[in-house]
Amino acid sequence: MQICCRRETLLEGSIVFMEKNKIILDTDPGNDDLLAIIMALKSDLIEVRGLTIVGGNASLENTTNNALSLLTYMDRIEVPVYVGDSSALNEISTSAEEFDDFKSHRIEIHGETGLHVPLPKSNIEPKEMHAVDFIISEAESNKGALSLVPIGPLTNIAMAIKKEPNLANWIQGIHLMGGAINVPGNVTQYAEFNIYCDPVAANEVLSSGIKIKLCGLDITRGTFVEREDTNWLGGNSLGEQLIRHLLDSVFKKLPDRNRFSLHDPITVLSVLYPELIEWEMYDVSVVCSGPNFGQTIGTPNAEGSVAVGVNIDRELAKLKISEILAT
Ligand code: RIB
Ligand code: CA
Repeated sequence: MQICCRRETLLEGSIVFMEKNKIILDTDPGNDDLLAIIMALKSDLIEVRGLTIVGGNASLENTTNNALSLLTYMDRIEVPVYVGDSSALNEISTSAEEFDDFKSHRIEIHGETGLHVPLPKSNIEPKEMHAVDFIISEAESNKGALSLVPIGPLTNIAMAIKKEPNLANWIQGIHLMGGAINVPGNVTQYAEFNIYCDPVAANEVLSSGIKIKLCGLDITRGTFVEREDTNWLGGNSLGEQLIRHLLDSVFKKLPDRNRFSLHDPITVLSVLYPELIEWEMYDVSVVCSGPNFGQTIGTPNAEGSVAVGVNIDRELAKLKISEILAT
C-alpha cells in the first residue's frame, strides 16, 4: 500500500528520500517575519537558499540588521543574506503627512527598529551581491526547483522579473504574503500593508503570469495567536523561547491588541502544506493611485495564474506552525 504525504512516499516498510523545497525568503523582519524565518530554518522539508531583504516594516537598514541578528541568535550564520531595496515607494505617491501616518502605523505594530524583542548584535555581514541579482542567479542555477517566498513588499521580486524575463520560466512558483481580495485592508480599508508599500511592484508581480499562491488577509488575518494562548509554544528551543518573549512583549506594548496574526508564517506553511488552504484561481491587479491606492482587485478565472487562498483550517494551521517551530 502506498501512502503519499508531504514530499515523501511511504512504502510499507520504507521511506523514499525526502525532497526538500528550495526557497528564497524575501523578507522585511518584522515581528511575524521572525516566526516565518524560524519556521523555514527549522523545517527539514525546506532548504533556505538565502534571505533577501526589503524595507517595509522598518527601514532597510533595520530589516537587514534584524535578519542578521536573528541568524546569529539561531546559530544559522551559514544562511546568506542579500540586501535589496527599501520599498516604501508610497513616499512618492502619498503626501508627507500620509507617509508619516504610515510610518507611525508600522512603528506601533513592529516597534522603532522593526522588532518588539531584542536580539544579539550580529557578527555577520550581508553578501556583496544585490538581492535582485542573487534571486536571478539562484533561479538560473536551480531551474524548476526554486520557489520565491516574498513576505514583505514586492519591490525586489518585481525588479528581478523586470531584469531577467527568463525568471518566470526558471522558478517553480511564488508563495507571497499580501493583498486583501474579499476582505478589507489593514493599512487603509482597501490596502494590505505589503501591497500598500509598493503597489506598482505588486501589480507587476501579480500580472507576470508566474504561478502564484497568494496568502492574503482573507486567510491570514483570522489565523492568530491570542493574548491568553501563552502555551501555544510549549518547548524550550531557542526559537520557541524567542517567540514567547516576542509575543509577551507585543501584548504588553499594545494593551488593546489581543491577537497576533500569523500572516508570514502561513505563507511559509503554504509551501509545506498547501492542502490546509482552499485555493481559488483569479486574475489579480493592483490599484496604483487615488483613494483605493494599494487595493488588490481579484477577478475569478479558472485559467488565471494566481491561486488565492480563500479559506484555511485555522486551528490545524496554528498547530502545524507550532509543530514546525518546536522541531
Ligand atoms: O499585512 C501583513 C504583512 O505586513 C506582513 O508581512 C507583516 O510582516 C507586514 O509586513
Ligand atoms: Ca513581512
